[in-house]
Parts: sequence; C-alpha cells; structure tokens
Amino acid sequence: MLSAVEIKSPEQIEKMRATCRLAAQVLEFIRPYVVPGVTTGRLDELCHEFILDHGAYPAPLNYKGFPRSICTSVNDEVCHGIPGDRVLREGDIVNIDITTILDGYHGDTSDMFFVGEVSDEARKLVEVTREAMWRGIRAVRPGARIGDIGAAIFEFAHGQHGYGVVEAYCGHGIGREFHMPPQISHVGQRGRGRRLKPGMTFTIEPMINVGSPDCRVLDDGWTAVTVDGTLSAQSEHTVLVTDDGVEVLTLRSDETPLA
Ligand code: MF3
Ligand code: CO
Ligand code: CO
Repeated sequence: MLSAVEIKSPEQIEKMRATCRLAAQVLEFIRPYVVPGVTTGRLDELCHEFILDHGAYPAPLNYKGFPRSICTSVNDEVCHGIPGDRVLREGDIVNIDITTILDGYHGDTSDMFFVGEVSDEARKLVEVTREAMWRGIRAVRPGARIGDIGAAIFEFAHGQHGYGVVEAYCGHGIGREFHMPPQISHVGQRGRGRRLKPGMTFTIEPMINVGSPDCRVLDDGWTAVTVDGTLSAQSEHTVLVTDDGVEVLTLRSDETPLA
C-alpha cells in the first residue's frame, strides 16, 4: 500500500520556497572555496556557519547519525560522503549536497564542482548528469506519472550516453520531513507510477556513473562508492508541481530554467 503524497497548502509552499531559496544560496556561496588544497571538512564548516547565520539548520547533522552538516562526495563516491580531512586535488570532481531546515521546512539541492582543471571524461559526465536531471524535471507536470521522470533520465544518461544510472538511491518527497513519499526512481518506466498533482514537492537527484550503476557503502556506514571505481556525478533540485507544469524551488542564478 502506497502512503499518500502530501499536497502543500499555499502557506506551506511559501515556506518551501524560502528554505529552498536558502539551500540554493548555500551552493552559490560555497563555489569560490572549492579549490585545490581545501579540505571537505572546511567546506562543511563554511556551509554550517552560513546556514546558521541565515536562521536555518543543516538537516544532515545528526540525521540518522550522520556526523556533519553537508555531504561531500568525491570522484568515485556516489553520495553521502562525510566531510573530513580529505584534501581536494586538482582534477577532482565533488558533489556538495545541501539540505536546509528553515521555519520547519526542508530544502534539498546538490551540484557538482570541478577542482581546478578536470579531465574530459569528468566534464562530460557532469554535463550529462545535469542535463539528465533537467530532462527529469521537464517531465514534471500535473497528470504526468512518476515513472515518466526516471524514464526521461534513463533514456538520456544510459540510452544515449551508455552511463550507469544508480538505482539504489532515489529522489523523495520533502517538506516538514527530509524524506517522505513519494519515492522518485531515476530509472522509471514511462506511464507507470502515481500521477503528479499540483502542490506535490519532491526532489529529482540522479546519480550517474561512468561504468556500472552498482554501489557499495564504505565502512563509515554512509559513503556510497561505485563498485568498479569509476567516476560518479549527481545533481539535485527540489521541485513543486504547479497547475500547469513545474517550479524549480532550488533554482540558482547561474541556471537557466527548463531551457
Ligand atoms: N541530501 C541527501 C538527499 O538528497 C540526503 C543526505 S542524508 C545524510 O536525500 F544523512 F547523509 F545527510
Ligand atoms: Co534529496
Ligand atoms: Co540532497
């Protein structure tokens, strides 16, 4: 039995807009600090302070025992990397995943960062991952089905580019809770799954691997890595289903919506 998907009221939607705007601002704020020589722990401290300074709280901190305020996933790390003493080196790619809690509501967004100059393989993976996310977002409108989102992502990332699309981690409904129904698979089937309705809010956050889609979790209990050691990339937005389409709640000023 699938549990119901919450339809946000206009008041709740305003709160989602505010927390999501802040989460997007954290990604903009941190970008200049992502340079060779910085530690992932320093990026965590900077984001932690920025979030508190804006009257919010970092959702990952102590979430199911997660020890830090953001996730930093480097190279073959798929998601949920724990910030620490790791020094970022020229050529690394890193996902920074931010989730804010503002006025009780969660905003969740992530993007990839290049540390100095990166390989053509890394750059292409990141570009395809972002475009895959946008294709998923463009599938969102009232009456569409959840499976349409994953189908759009999978057909592009795997069908056109041959990359592995991670199945073990999904997008999710979001609001007062960090993770709530519905689950958004990134390998869906067109025409399958629930119908989308105005007022639903959820994330779309594909993880795309150069090689196998399979992951394993390191002994730290959190960090997911590719089983074959190939590079992985992810990008994430929180979206709202509107009366006639989709609103990207975590949109940044450096992005063109839905173009
Ligand atoms: N922000 C992640 C997501 O997109 C979840 C991180 S959970 C944590 O759903 F505990 F690792 F922070
Ligand atoms: Co998420
Ligand atoms: Co996230």
